[in-house]
Amino acid sequence: MRQKILVTGGAGYIGSHTCVELLAADYDVVVVDNFSNSKPAALDRIAQISGRSVLWHEGDLRDRALLQRVFSQYAFAGVLHCAGLKAIAEAQREPLRYYQHNLEASLTLLDAMAAHDVRRMVFSSSATVYGEGARVPYREEAPLAPNTVYGRSKMMVEDVLHDLVQSDPSWHIGILRYFNPVGAHPSGLIGEDARGSVNNLMPHLCQVAIGKRAELPIFGHDYPTPDGTGVRDYLHVMDVAEGHVKTLQYLATESGLLTLNLGTGRGYSVLEVVRAFERASGKRVPSRYVPRRQGDLASYYADATRASSVLGWHAKRDLSEMCADAWRWQSNNPDGYI
Ligand code: NAD
Ligand code: UFG
Repeated sequence: MRQKILVTGGAGYIGSHTCVELLAADYDVVVVDNFSNSKPAALDRIAQISGRSVLWHEGDLRDRALLQRVFSQYAFAGVLHCAGLKAIAEAQREPLRYYQHNLEASLTLLDAMAAHDVRRMVFSSSATVYGEGARVPYREEAPLAPNTVYGRSKMMVEDVLHDLVQSDPSWHIGILRYFNPVGAHPSGLIGEDARGSVNNLMPHLCQVAIGKRAELPIFGHDYPTPDGTGVRDYLHVMDVAEGHVKTLQYLATESGLLTLNLGTGRGYSVLEVVRAFERASGKRVPSRYVPRRQGDLASYYADATRASSVLGWHAKRDLSEMCADAWRWQSNNPDGYI
């Protein structure tokens, strides 16, 4: 009998790649997703890659009746909680919606888990919880001071998980703080289907290369970094997916709370990413310097040693592979999932 894992937001970018890794590790996967930022087609593609299907239920995590039905139907061994909203600027404009989908949805999910005695969860958090004050490279024990609504919504869920484990040590909780996941499954069948206004660097690069946008705006070139552009810790989404499976496996026997950075431990500047992308895609990407984007930090990257010492996880794929896989996905699927 395979263990069943619930993946919330499993049709999304991180969730879909994680489903592929779960299936490869011989778990059964059940997805709950409201498809607010994804399409069911992603789940068909996962099945195409894996040769095994994913069971899924369309619905919102805040719907208690839905969760009651799903948790009654399957005996879950654990939950990967990837569902959530993630657009930083949108969150500043619509804080209530973000707290509802990120915080309220998590509380409702945890309630359902407790009611059905499912106490193993991996939560998708973000490096953005560290905020401005922390020393680079960010270590997990650095104080948290997020400077955005989105970041605070993640920190609040982390606080809830911390309090939960304090009150009842029989929970097995993993918090994964991702740095900048990019790239796609090497098949080119699943990837980041960026909809609406694209804000992040890699999807924007892809859209310029495919001809949907004329040029890449580079937000600031006067940062205190080697070439003046912002520096981030980009890591391949398949490494992120593997990190989830390893954390889930670790939590099968270890209780309490485990908080880990998922990053490579090194940063690349915007210009370095642009050059790597041009080499990988064979496309020239016109770009233009524009003023700094509000809220952006100059430079940060992970101290990734804890994930390595606790899980034996480290990011294996380099920047050229991240760019090549992102481009394969984009060029094979110019309009995303249709
Ligand atoms: P995504 O938007 O591609 O996937 C999120 C999925 O959750 C979508 O399929 C969406 O339809 C679903 N969803 C949203 N609200 C829901 C709700 N209330 N009920 C049910 N389904 C809901 O985003 P992603 O990039 O895959 O991110 C996954 C998680 O990782 C998010 O929590 C995000 O905050 C976090 N994260 C992402 C990044 C990144 O750069 N992609 C970085 C750090 C953290
Ligand atoms: N950038 C550009 N032009 C663009 C887009 C981005 O120059 O069109 C620059 C940014 O200024 C930054 C870098 O590229 O220096 C990376 O920007 P992203 O928007 O891709 O990523 P961020 O680091 O700003 O944010 C990402 C996620 C957040 C998450 C954070 C956590 O989008 O959800 O990482 O580390 F919170």
